[in-house]
Amino acid sequence: MSTVDDLVARSRRLGADPRNTNYAGGNTSAKGQAIDPVTGYPVDLLWVKGSGGDLGTLAPAGLAVLRLDRLRALADSYPGVEREDEMVGAFDYCLHGRGGAAPSIDTAMHGLVDAAHVDHLHPDAGIALATAADGPVLTRECFGERVEWVPWRRPGFQLGLDIAGVRQRNPAAIGVILGGHGITAWGATSDECESRSLTIIRTAQEFIDARGRADPFGAAVPEWAPLPGPQRRARAAALAPFLRGLVSTTARQVGHYTGSAPVLDFLARAEHPRLAALGTSCPDHFLRTKVRPLVLDLPAAADPDAVEARLVELHAAYRAEYAAYYARHATAGSPRMRGADPAVVLVPGIGMFSFGRDKQTARVAGEFYVNAINAMRGAEAVSRYAPIDESEKFRIEYWALEEAKLGRLPAPKPLAARVALVTGAGSGIGRAIAHRLAAEGACVAVADRDSEAAGRVAAEIGNADVAVPVEVDVTGEAAVAAAVEATCLAFGGLDLVVNNAGLSVSKPLTETSTVDWDRQHGVLARGSFLVSRESAKVLIRQRLGGDLVYICSKNAVFAGPDNIAYGAAKADQAHQVRLLAAELGEYGIRVNGVNPDGVVRGSGIFAGGWGAQRAAVYGVPEEELGAYYARRTLLKLEVLPEHVANAVFVLTAGELSHTTGVHLPVDAGVPAAFLR
Ligand SMILES: NC(=O)c1ccc[n+]([C@@H]2O[C@H](COP(=O)([O-])OP(=O)(O)OC[C@H]3O[C@@H](n4cnc5c(N)ncnc54)[C@H](O)[C@@H]3O)[C@@H](O)[C@H]2O)c1
Repeated sequence: MSTVDDLVARSRRLGADPRNTNYAGGNTSAKGQAIDPVTGYPVDLLWVKGSGGDLGTLAPAGLAVLRLDRLRALADSYPGVEREDEMVGAFDYCLHGRGGAAPSIDTAMHGLVDAAHVDHLHPDAGIALATAADGPVLTRECFGERVEWVPWRRPGFQLGLDIAGVRQRNPAAIGVILGGHGITAWGATSDECESRSLTIIRTAQEFIDARGRADPFGAAVPEWAPLPGPQRRARAAALAPFLRGLVSTTARQVGHYTGSAPVLDFLARAEHPRLAALGTSCPDHFLRTKVRPLVLDLPAAADPDAVEARLVELHAAYRAEYAAYYARHATAGSPRMRGADPAVVLVPGIGMFSFGRDKQTARVAGEFYVNAINAMRGAEAVSRYAPIDESEKFRIEYWALEEAKLGRLPAPKPLAARVALVTGAGSGIGRAIAHRLAAEGACVAVADRDSEAAGRVAAEIGNADVAVPVEVDVTGEAAVAAAVEATCLAFGGLDLVVNNAGLSVSKPLTETSTVDWDRQHGVLARGSFLVSRESAKVLIRQRLGGDLVYICSKNAVFAGPDNIAYGAAKADQAHQVRLLAAELGEYGIRVNGVNPDGVVRGSGIFAGGWGAQRAAVYGVPEEELGAYYARRTLLKLEVLPEHVANAVFVLTAGELSHTTGVHLPVDAGVPAAFLR
């Protein structure tokens, strides 16, 4: 295998096991030779995982490639720790060819350590020793001469020199524990490096297991015991949007809920308030989790109203404390304060809510806090958990290099951080709407009575960070409440609801049965009423405004032939738009409708008999129905599901922020359906 293939394979193996490193944490490197295309002679190179990306899914394109002689020559021009950040810019002058991925801050460590292969990882067991109050002593007891302690230092050129110094001084060393941070290991071959990394991680874990006390988080406190499963889930679903409303004070965030055993156990124990207040330590951790979480200090079974009232107080205190932390440490050159809302909220008995600008960021913040819990457990088992100083955390959080990284993030999409629920999204117009909202940045609950179709569409859109399927029959009161609950659990809340589920029967009055009438009104009138009602309860408690959009129809205003049940139910929906716009305006909830007509292609309604019925009514062959509808429009255009999705996007993306209670026709121009 080539050096690069070996490195990628090793990185993926290491990254695949969460005990070895946290998501997107750590980096790996290999040194070797390649032919310099300019001279035709071999040249010494360093391949190192670039900035961003995850070890578990590393590809060759994720590697930075640098000239080793030039990188090492930087040691001669290094101006000292006060100006070490300048060295990052100097990496650009060490690139081989175009250099591949952007070199990360840890590039210096990889280049300076005199070994062909280097791994830098964030294993929970390693961080446990790294954050133990007597970490240096424990490291010696655990590893003897083979693994040395390197005191905490912000990652950079100097840390690289520190680690390289260990390697130079101590030929017996296979790696180091980096105080407050993680581990680094090296080897002459890729296999040797990997096995040394694993040796350090496993030895640290065995040491903790053998030496540690049984209950590092203290005694179980009965009033913080986890609530029974279904009750916990229901409380979490109810709490999520309330919390999301609070933590979206600076900017709207998406939420993630975790009720896993390690989280619930931590929260059920006596020491969790003290430990949570100390905050996380590994830079990777606290950049995502913020310096410390917000912790609810009430019993698990506390009255929900009391919980909400207390959370309001704690949130205000958290924001004030965060602003004070910023004020304590900011210097004239510090970037502006970013946002004082917590990223992690801990609720004993119920679990952990984590938040971020998108679902992935929110989920990973939660995962990192679980890493931090594991590290705290290990540190407390053998010693006392002692994370790096707050001032050092500030130096990382408001580091110019971190700020530059944030500045390079792409501009948020128009619907970023919004959570959408689209009913009837398993087919036709709903499917097109779900796709469009997700493409514009929203997280989407793809709701449909047909669970297979919902699953298919959610999978088409992407992974569970973007879209989740939700099975729901909108005519059922409990089912609708459960669907809204599932959306809140998946994404932390709800912002944008599209009442689209529907079906059609075209019959003259005298042939319309009560079954026909009830089905139409059940799905369209009652269904959208229920979805709006359950959604509005969440939107109101969340206090972030919101959008309800009804996919009504031209038939809501146009007295089409043989259409009593469908047309009357659509008119019912259309009036719900006006009634709810009037009722919900005070909460910042906008309610609007879209009136499509003649969307034949992609529509299950048309394929399922309605098309044949309408074709018969209009006296045209069914396969020409789309063209027939197009001909009778002013624009002579056929309306597709995407055109209806466009209207939903325009109504909800922000430009129409002052519009509520309207109906937007998407029918290519049908004078009979003009609104007046
Ligand atoms: N196609 C058109 O020309 C047209 C015109 C105007 C209005 N509309 C309206 O647009 C909406 C979507 O229509 P479409 O053409 O995409 O139809 P479609 O049949 O392709 O999609 C409708 C979806 O709703 C789901 N559904 C039906 N009953 C449900 C229930 N009780 N609970 C949950 N899901 C349910 C179906 O499983 C299906 O996936 C409907 O409200 C329809 O009345 C369609």
